[in-house]
Amino acid sequence: MQFCIGGCCTRAGAREAYEALLESLKEAGALGKVSVVPVDCVDMCSDAPVLRQLPDRKWARRVSPAWAARLGRDLAKDRRAR
Ligand code: FES
Repeated sequence: MQFCIGGCCTRAGAREAYEALLESLKEAGALGKVSVVPVDCVDMCSDAPVLRQLPDRKWARRVSPAWAARLGRDLAKDRRAR
């Protein structure tokens, strides 16, 4: 997945959400199986922080640390991450 850490997203809390996502994946032993790539501004600043899941290409907007942690746990349970 791609996680925007551009200026707008960082000011809106992207770093905290990014760390929460990585931590939840690490706790579930799925870090590395799920790849999280920090990217620069993707021109969606009004919805910051944002991330995009691949291969679905679905955007998640206004990502909170709690939501990101839940996403990490859900992805770790996904059979594609095993
Ligand atoms: S900084 Fe993230 S969309 Fe612009």
